[in-house]
Amino acid sequence: MMQRKLKVAALLAVILSASSAYAVAEDGFWLWLVKFNRQKGVRPVTDKQYLEECEGCHFAYQPGLLPAKSWEALLNADALRKHFGVDAELDNDTLKAIHDYAVDNAADKSWYKRSRKIAVAVATTEGPVPLRITELRYISRKHRNIPEKMIKGNKGVKSLSFCDKCHTQAADGVYDVDTVSIPNYPDWKE
Ligand code: HEC
Ligand code: HEC
Repeated sequence: MMQRKLKVAALLAVILSASSAYAVAEDGFWLWLVKFNRQKGVRPVTDKQYLEECEGCHFAYQPGLLPAKSWEALLNADALRKHFGVDAELDNDTLKAIHDYAVDNAADKSWYKRSRKIAVAVATTEGPVPLRITELRYISRKHRNIPEKMIKGNKGVKSLSFCDKCHTQAADGVYDVDTVSIPNYPDWKE
């Protein structure tokens, strides 16, 4: 285990020094730092088809917010026909593309810090395959101190599922507390 960690660290050091030298030459150090910093969050969605089909009713959740087994359970014809009480059916080709994109970029296959935490938390939790991000232990714990009046009772939010209502950089995969702004509760921190 220790040896593996060392190998990973050595590999990372090589990649970092190579990519930083490249980045400094290309766009300057600060931009590189900003990009590297992003790895802390969740990998942003880049797939156009996924964005098109999945952001009609809600924010297009990054695949890195759920493990692959959850996407397998959510993204099949039967499940999509009764997707949280609505019909979100897709044609076969689109479904396959979206399914593969989500599974390939799932939390347990991502190196982004937030995804790693989600993957580890899921792996150490027993019970059925999670179908909601909001029900993941890691996510629900992060929100347990927010009063209901700021979520369900808040016209500007309505449900914890609408991440982007409060997380102003959710589309970039950034969920840090200092980027949160709760609609109608500018002073939520106090
Ligand atoms: C026709 C509308 C519609 C479309 C299209 C749709 N969804 Fe949903 N989705 C919903 C509703 C409604 C909910 C439940 C929201 C709530 O409980 O507040 C939901 C919830 C979810 C959740 C759980 C969120 C949570 O609470 O943690 C995931 C994950 C999800 N959708 C993924 C997808 C993906 C991926 C796609 C694209 C293939 C998609 N959805 C397309 C309507 C839709
Ligand atoms: C009602 C507004 C609101 C909604 C909706 C919401 N969040 Fe949050 N979220 C917060 C607040 C406020 C915090 C900070 C809580 C604290 O520090 O006590 C937070 C914290 C987090 C954190 C931890 C941040 C850190 O730096 O530790 C993550 C990750 C996160 N949210 C993800 C999500 C995801 C994913 C969704 C959608 C499925 C979501 N949130 C929906 C308000 C919201």
